[in-house]
Amino acid sequence: MEGHGAYNRSSRVQATGSSPAVPLLEKAAREVELPLPPETVVIADYGSSEGRNSLGPMAAAIRVLRDRLGPDRAVSVVHTDLPGNDFTALFQILASDPDSYSRADPTVFPCAVGRSFYEQILPSSSVTLGWSSWAVQWLSRIPGVIPDQVQIAYSQDAAARAAFCQQAADDWRCFLVHRAAELSPGGRLVVLSMALDHHGDFGYRPAVAAIYGAVLDLVDEVFISKEEARRMVIPTVGRSRQDFMAPFVGSGSFAGLTLEEIDVFYGEDRIWTEFRSHGDARKYAARWAAFSRASVCPTLAASLDDHEGRAAEFIDRMEARMIGRLKVAPEPMLIPLAKMVLVKGSSQSSA
Ligand SMILES: C[S@@+](CC[C@H](N)C(=O)[O-])C[C@H]1O[C@@H](n2cnc3c(N)ncnc32)[C@H](O)[C@@H]1O
Repeated sequence: MEGHGAYNRSSRVQATGSSPAVPLLEKAAREVELPLPPETVVIADYGSSEGRNSLGPMAAAIRVLRDRLGPDRAVSVVHTDLPGNDFTALFQILASDPDSYSRADPTVFPCAVGRSFYEQILPSSSVTLGWSSWAVQWLSRIPGVIPDQVQIAYSQDAAARAAFCQQAADDWRCFLVHRAAELSPGGRLVVLSMALDHHGDFGYRPAVAAIYGAVLDLVDEVFISKEEARRMVIPTVGRSRQDFMAPFVGSGSFAGLTLEEIDVFYGEDRIWTEFRSHGDARKYAARWAAFSRASVCPTLAASLDDHEGRAAEFIDRMEARMIGRLKVAPEPMLIPLAKMVLVKGSSQSSA
């Protein structure tokens, strides 16, 4: 993600997309098995980025837990992301945003960990409630080049598609194994992720076309080389409902977790909704370009030979080319998402 608060400023699409999963988090907070006092109740936020989109879900979960715990019991909120994440922006927003959950409640203690969620991040059996939104679609590694695209969903290359599919399956299992270790018995985890819809559609077609088109524009302008463009990959995947369910098929549980519910749905395209009222094609294009810039352009820039020297200009040029392409024919974006609840076997059931 782009740092310096850029993700916080350009991620309202994600905030809107996550909102249907917040009632699942509230329900999980009502039903989760709580640790006995004086143990701390721990909420983990996996893939927090710069934190703005975590404020609402964390506040919602804490509100429900407070009713159960009373005002004095400590709650720890652990935001986690990759080591290179802009944690300064996260701590600033926690300290100063009027919507910050930590400003309102003196017995909530936020902290952060910079470690991949494809490893164990927190001590075994220490997490009461987990939340992860718009994060598990990111793979642990790029499994290979995509010769004809930057996004695997729109590639026609069978070998590349197979490699990404295998990586996605391995990574989902790896994510689950580590969360299963961290959750306390009876703990609950709510996940919201990009997904494939029931027709296998990844969505975002105009945005992905604009991103790939912009990369090719920069090759034509000789700002990047063909080899740099060839290496540029967005390491995200949309998984289908069946993909998410695969580890649980057969026994119904995986690594001690059960998948209590899962739903694939469409997120609201609020940029399109706003365009229909203002009618300004450039504004529509700028909003989607800002979304793409903050989410994926730094990842593409990592493939530049002299990354440090050219990344900033590359990202600016990408945004300008994307705007040029997207403003020509504004159209709605399909936003397939999956929301699910995972439960770790309770202390009663394992006793
Ligand atoms: C699109 S942002 C989502 C931020 C926020 N949760 C939201 O709902 O808007 C995805 C975040 O996942 C993080 N991420 C990607 N791969 C990760 C990994 N292996 N471990 C931890 N975080 C990861 C990225 O660094 C990024 O901050």
